[in-house]
Amino acid sequence: MLKVIELFAGVGGFRLGLEANNTKSNQRFKIVWSNQWEPSTKLQHASDVYKLRWPHDNNHSSEDIAKVIKDDFESIPNHDLLVGGFPCQDYSVARTLSHAEGLRGKKGVLWWSIHAILKKKGKDAPRFLMLENVDRLLKSPTRQRGRDFAIMIASLSDLGYAVEWRVINAAEYGMPQRRRRVYIMAYKLDTEMHSNISSLEDTSNWVTDGGIMQQAFPMRFDEMFFDTWKIDGELEDISENINDFNSVRRPFSNAGIMLNRNVFTSKGIPQYDGKFTTLKDIILDEKEIPSEYFISGTDLEKWEYLKGAKREKRSTKDGHEYSYNEGPVGFPDSLDKPSRTIITGEGGRSPSRFKHVVETQSGKLRRLTPIELERLNMFPDRHTEGAGDTKRAFFMGNALVVGIVEKLGKSLSLNLS
Ligand SMILES: C[S@@+](CC[C@H](N)C(=O)[O-])C[C@H]1O[C@@H](n2cnc3c(N)ncnc32)[C@H](O)[C@@H]1O
Repeated sequence: MLKVIELFAGVGGFRLGLEANNTKSNQRFKIVWSNQWEPSTKLQHASDVYKLRWPHDNNHSSEDIAKVIKDDFESIPNHDLLVGGFPCQDYSVARTLSHAEGLRGKKGVLWWSIHAILKKKGKDAPRFLMLENVDRLLKSPTRQRGRDFAIMIASLSDLGYAVEWRVINAAEYGMPQRRRRVYIMAYKLDTEMHSNISSLEDTSNWVTDGGIMQQAFPMRFDEMFFDTWKIDGELEDISENINDFNSVRRPFSNAGIMLNRNVFTSKGIPQYDGKFTTLKDIILDEKEIPSEYFISGTDLEKWEYLKGAKREKRSTKDGHEYSYNEGPVGFPDSLDKPSRTIITGEGGRSPSRFKHVVETQSGKLRRLTPIELERLNMFPDRHTEGAGDTKRAFFMGNALVVGIVEKLGKSLSLNLS
């Protein structure tokens, strides 16, 4: 059994995925501590949902993780596996590229909270890590592509971890949402995974054959040639070393591994021959949909405008004119494909280009309900019940596709002797 702490827990996506591997006779994962604190609101809605779902758990903390580390570090129990989807505002497409500050940005700094836990735990640091983030992390910041990820994994290497990563789009492996995220797993020096990786003549074989992530989410590598390089220097030097990371080079492909600061990376193509899931498979019957989810005749024009193609003159506040162009997005959303990515602004009645709209059997247009958004992330129905609908949509925009963590967890536990 692996003892787990769940950081930046949100409404518990990692927990659900890991616990799906537990059976009555075999508890593979036990969450021994979790932490969730939302800096932008006084009320802690996500944490409240978490406590409502796991009421018998006295190990949930709803304080700023940085504060816990500083003032109450002893409350974080020793554990084997640390998991978390650390906040990603600074890498997310919600901000323009030129404003993305990466690891030096305010929220991105939370990576260093994870690092601080590992460092402070010293010899008791967890054997394994499983982390999730937006795939832009691999090329952040814009002017020095890849620098942030290089610093992160180099700092893990210095603490004795081998690190592998893989960009996974849930829909490409039969799950209901097109959500592309980078998953990162790390194995400490004293684990059998670390020794297995170290004993390979060609480290990249871990990525192409038999590694933990390859077992769970197989990829084909056509370019058998792996890009191989070393992250040199002190961590501070990496951040200053503008020559290694520039705006053109993409040092990290969608799959790779780092051992002793040596990076092996190549472009992988997802391999999956199972069933695919579409929006049609998860939506509720029209009869179950509350009236506020239907698009009213008065709003229809606004929705059509926002979803449609545009080629128009706009002007900035100071009167500067510019032309604004964008293509159309599917309206309504196709029921025969997996959904698009859920974003935090998915909830609420106001018309939007990004919210999903589907057509019912009787030809009416409607938004998706909280239960449907939960299903798109493979959460149990009503998991987030207790919060308002807009908040429930927000939680799902922040969360992950549970089926991915379930499979990664399974692969990890099956490889433990
Ligand atoms: C990307 S979401 C992770 C969602 C989660 N994986 C789930 O399944 O719901 C990041 C979470 O980190 C939380 N957070 C942000 N700053 C924090 C801090 N300083 N301490 C603890 N949690 C924080 C946010 O409120 C948010 O819920």
